[in-house]
Amino acid sequence: MSIFCKVANLITFAILVSNSVCGEDAFLYDVFPPGFQWGFSTSSYQIEGAWNEDGKGVNIWDTFVHRFPSPIPDKRNGDIACDSYHKFDHDVSLLKYIGANVYRFSLSWSRILPTGRIDHINPAGIQYYNNLINLLLANGIEPIVTLHQWDLPQPLMDIGGWQNEEVIQHFSNFANLAFHAFGDRIRKWVTFNEPNVMCVHGYLTGKYAPGHKNINEALNSARNIVKSHAKVYRLYDRVFRLHQGGKVGMALFSYWLEPKDPQNPAHRKIAEYGMQIMWGSFAFPIVFGNYNDETKQLLGKLRKLKLTSAPVEFTLEESVEIKGSYDFWGLNHYSTYLVEPSKLTSSILHGDLIGLVLGAKISVDPKWPQGARNDITVVPWGLRKTLNWIKERYGSPEIYIMENGYPDYPNAGVEDVSRVQFHRGYINEMLKAVRLDGVGVTMYLACGLLDSFEWSLGYTVNFGVVYVNHSDPERPRTPKLSSACLQQIFAENGFT
Ligand SMILES: *[C@@H]1O[C@H](CO)[C@@H](O)[C@H](O)[C@H]1NC(C)=O
Repeated sequence: MSIFCKVANLITFAILVSNSVCGEDAFLYDVFPPGFQWGFSTSSYQIEGAWNEDGKGVNIWDTFVHRFPSPIPDKRNGDIACDSYHKFDHDVSLLKYIGANVYRFSLSWSRILPTGRIDHINPAGIQYYNNLINLLLANGIEPIVTLHQWDLPQPLMDIGGWQNEEVIQHFSNFANLAFHAFGDRIRKWVTFNEPNVMCVHGYLTGKYAPGHKNINEALNSARNIVKSHAKVYRLYDRVFRLHQGGKVGMALFSYWLEPKDPQNPAHRKIAEYGMQIMWGSFAFPIVFGNYNDETKQLLGKLRKLKLTSAPVEFTLEESVEIKGSYDFWGLNHYSTYLVEPSKLTSSILHGDLIGLVLGAKISVDPKWPQGARNDITVVPWGLRKTLNWIKERYGSPEIYIMENGYPDYPNAGVEDVSRVQFHRGYINEMLKAVRLDGVGVTMYLACGLLDSFEWSLGYTVNFGVVYVNHSDPERPRTPKLSSACLQQIFAENGFT
């Protein structure tokens, strides 16, 4: 293992040397502060399978992938996925083997509440998550629970999904149940994973379930999600915090936008504007109580064009509940883009409206290495810049990296040197942010543990540090080279 790691080190070193020619600085040999947490993120729909077993209800991803013709390129789905519903003990063994001390998973709302509503609780669903949580704790691994990662119960979609304000109460009831059932053993809760991606791809581009294409739905959903988040945060404050002593936050997707020409003020301005818009719909209200000026102006423009009915502000009453409703910020980060002003609009990237409405041109540097997705390039320093940007604009919050990972193809094999380079590079830039820049990052979760169902890409792309053979009914798991390297970084708490 360590020989593999050294080979990979050399390759990484070569890349860093070539980067330093371009002005990026050298690899930092140092460790993270004591208590830094290491682990992995997964989500229910991507790994659990058992889509109709033991009383689980149907969710919007079940509906989406079962459409005919299939919206997924390989026509496959998450019906079985990694079969983690039956094989969670294998997953925990892998986490233990790699040396993770935290594991973030999401609850399948429909497994716990088959109708989405509190009128019918499925005991098998509660039991499944109790078993997982207890096994993690028995192995010294802290469970982190994501309440919602995209798999809304279908009956709630049938009343309009997140754009319907009624769903806010249903989400709060679900969260209340989860706090009651699991909160005695959970110290960190994530209300929503990447609601920005969920709104854009679920309700605007239609690439994700429920597959809608309506900007008004996307914007009203985003607004209701901020309110749902705040309501659940306040519920935790009022009823659970005293006894359970946990933390509650949200995980946002954010890439880094680099001015294409850093010397050009217009490029710098549009890059900053893009970042403000990306963080403006969720983080800004949650930290400061309302949308930032950039988002207000954008909403105003869209209202004028009659593209949305979404209000440009939260009411005073809403604002009071929303403001400050976070104990940490979760950051899901993969990649960096170059941006410049342009009269032409370019396509929408993950999770934001910048290309669509701002007239900005997005590109990548052809010298940046690319994985199996053309929208993910390997730019480790973009993570350091993103972290510094959050620290400066958002009052130095505690930050957890809740997803970071590299996509390759299913036939890439277990000697995934590119993924090793990716994680080493990004973790090292995170180390610089912590040690040299004083950014308060205290956790790193790689995404993902297993090769799993990658949403609109099916199984055509892999992020796992563990290979899963999806042609084998047993779904056997084989650690890749990247597992060994993360094992070493976790054990050393950095790079010694
Ligand atoms: C995956 O499983 C199938 C079916 O058992 C088997 O034929 C194939 O060789 C396996 N692939 C790998 C790479 O192990």
